[in-house]
Amino acid sequence: MKIDILTLFPEMFETIFSHSIIKRAITEKKVEIEIHNFRDYSKDPHHKVDDTPYGGGCGMVLTCQPIFDCVESLKTKDSKVILLTPDGLPYKQKVAYELSKEKHLILICGHYEGFDDRIRTLCDYEISIGDYVLTGGELASMVLTDSIVRLLPGVIEEESHKNDSFNNNLLDYPTYTKPSVFRGMEVPSVLLSGDHKKIEEYRKEESIKKTQKRRPDLLEK
Ligand code: ADE
Repeated sequence: MKIDILTLFPEMFETIFSHSIIKRAITEKKVEIEIHNFRDYSKDPHHKVDDTPYGGGCGMVLTCQPIFDCVESLKTKDSKVILLTPDGLPYKQKVAYELSKEKHLILICGHYEGFDDRIRTLCDYEISIGDYVLTGGELASMVLTDSIVRLLPGVIEEESHKNDSFNNNLLDYPTYTKPSVFRGMEVPSVLLSGDHKKIEEYRKEESIKKTQKRRPDLLEK
């Protein structure tokens, strides 16, 4: 998979993908991530990328030209263009799975007070990572990239994301490691029993119980 990220703040991405699983995925060429400063595409003599809003109002609005030109220079027939915006589709694990099947993603990070609404015509998806407003789409694009890359074939064992929270609308079951007793807190005995059928049943029950308690809205789905 190739992921192109369009931002005015490329420095924000300098270390975020150089650790752990994402770093390994890049080294093993399971994903290629490229950061583009769309200011470089501005045809304005001063490389301006924003202007005042028509109709008045506060703040500056990202203009169409740099973003259109940048996207059009990267786009192929295999590309999906995604705008990160608080008024987008709520981001869910199901969406991460869908996007992980794509060959090429172009992520556009909005900034400042907003962007010219015509930029939406470039996009296949508009995505929000939650009901709160960030100063820009950079953190949101990092969240998408991380959650998608870990689902790419061979990045982590399929078994580990099969049991992820939110799969089948259930939260993850509790896990434990050694020692079996820590400050008087015991690991549930079934996990020490070696009975795989019982362990599976226990985990399923715990998943359902936790979801009922913490996220009953997931079960209603
Ligand atoms: N940009 C600003 N806030 C955002 C959010 N919640 N999700 C995606 N992009 C954003």
